[in-house]
Amino acid sequence: MKRVYLTGFMGAGKTTVGRALAEQLCVPMIDTDSYIEEKIGKPIKQIFVEEGEAAFRRYEREFLRTLPPDKRIVTTGGGMVIQPENREWMKQTGMVIYLHCDFAEIMRRIADDDTRPLLSNQLEDLQRLWEQRLPYYSEAHIVIDTTGKRVEEVVQEIMEWI
Ligand code: S3P
Repeated sequence: MKRVYLTGFMGAGKTTVGRALAEQLCVPMIDTDSYIEEKIGKPIKQIFVEEGEAAFRRYEREFLRTLPPDKRIVTTGGGMVIQPENREWMKQTGMVIYLHCDFAEIMRRIADDDTRPLLSNQLEDLQRLWEQRLPYYSEAHIVIDTTGKRVEEVVQEIMEWI
């Protein structure tokens, strides 16, 4: 089985779906945000505050390339796709699955979260970011619309592709 990368905006369900998928396939999974936090020794929010977003993006680029090879499911931070070299790397080293979700549902899912630094932006800015990223996400090998779907349904759909 090829490595599977799950991409998508914050709140698209990458981590939840990734966990369920890994369990169903009996393979290990890794989350790039958790991996960065472990390597750097700070939560993402603290990296943003102390080192800035540019440093975080550098970590994303760097650590994407050093993920342990046994990890078959990789869930990625919502902004992983904004760097073209990351999109290229993921497509070359695995199957990229974009979990799409409409903006209103995303906001309902993550409205109360205070661990994601970008959520301190205004709603219009977040929507703009979501729109700006759509073309990057859409470069994935597979696009799955998760809007209104349960985790099990999304996992089932992915299973039909891999
Ligand atoms: C980000 C999404 C976050 C995390 C960081 C930046 C983004 O991951 O990587 O806060 O730029 O969209 P999740 O998509 O898992 O929330």
